Amino acid sequence: MHHFHSLKTSIVAKETNDSVHISFEIPQDLKPLFQFKQGQYLNLKMMLNGEDLRRSYSVVNAPTDGNDQLEILVKHLDDGRVSSFLNENLTLGDVIEVSPPAGHFYTNYHKSNRKNYIGLAAGSGISPVLSNLIEALYQEPESTAYLFFSNKSLNDIIFKERIDALVDKFQGRLKVVYLLSREKHFEDELFEGRISSQKLELLFERFPEIDPKESIFFICGPSEMIKDVSTYLKNDKKVPSLKVMFEYYAAPDDEENAEMSDEFKAIPNLESMVTLIIDDDEYSFHLNSKKRSILDQALNDKLPVPFACKGGVCCTCKALVMEGEVFMDKNFALTEDEVERGFVLTCQCHPTTNIVMLSYDV
Ligand code: FES
Repeated sequence: MHHFHSLKTSIVAKETNDSVHISFEIPQDLKPLFQFKQGQYLNLKMMLNGEDLRRSYSVVNAPTDGNDQLEILVKHLDDGRVSSFLNENLTLGDVIEVSPPAGHFYTNYHKSNRKNYIGLAAGSGISPVLSNLIEALYQEPESTAYLFFSNKSLNDIIFKERIDALVDKFQGRLKVVYLLSREKHFEDELFEGRISSQKLELLFERFPEIDPKESIFFICGPSEMIKDVSTYLKNDKKVPSLKVMFEYYAAPDDEENAEMSDEFKAIPNLESMVTLIIDDDEYSFHLNSKKRSILDQALNDKLPVPFACKGGVCCTCKALVMEGEVFMDKNFALTEDEVERGFVLTCQCHPTTNIVMLSYDV
């Protein structure tokens, strides 16, 4: 199970009007633990007004870009308590509780590869996409990359300077198209609007050298965009599923009421004895299958369980089913293989047998 460590901020700088760029210094003794893969995320923990709040933020930089710090981007969200605090109150040198990098939104690169990578990002979805593209360009001198990046206006383009510098640095191997959804800035209509399947069709016409079937896609943005674009790529362009990787930056809206789904209604109404193994200790509690999730009950009982998004997105609450069965409402984080091996997201789990045992020590 991942624990939190105190990390000092080494950069706190406004990136756009509503986002802040934060860098963490990694002390020598924590370097092995905080080694990361491109596209992974960090969980941040903070007490605000007496409440223990956790949030996940993707790392922006890449393992081989020569920066030994960890950088994240935090977009200010309406009603976002953590994002407001980080945007408005964080100052240079402040210390934050951070858990080691996690997640598997990446592919492995090799210097002999000659591939094409395409990043599709909206707003703050740029972080894990950019991390992957940078790593690809550094590690694979023969590979190329495209970034199609949508923002509201020119001033809202996150990391524009950094991206433009990368275009210069990699001399023709990185092509970038900025799309603006609420500002008419470019003469070409192609650059207006958001990323969608229709827009992608037009972009492929504009860049005929792109063969979608032979490209690897990294997609991060709102759920509608991910669904639309990934379905189009797989169904219309016949891109194999393994080459279409995506990461949600929040739980999809239309899944928010999953507890009312037919599947959830169909689970048996029963009392269960749930046992959790956390750092070699066992904790047990009673839980009704139709009530709160296993994670929520554990938090209610003040057990030291790991969590961040509570929306089935970040994977922090992952545990292995050792005994019994559970129903998992949503899963935007575990791979099919992990699910087959018995892993679950405890923030989404309800017991469906009288005895359930889960282990976080995996
Ligand atoms: S807490 Fe993020 S998936 Fe459960």
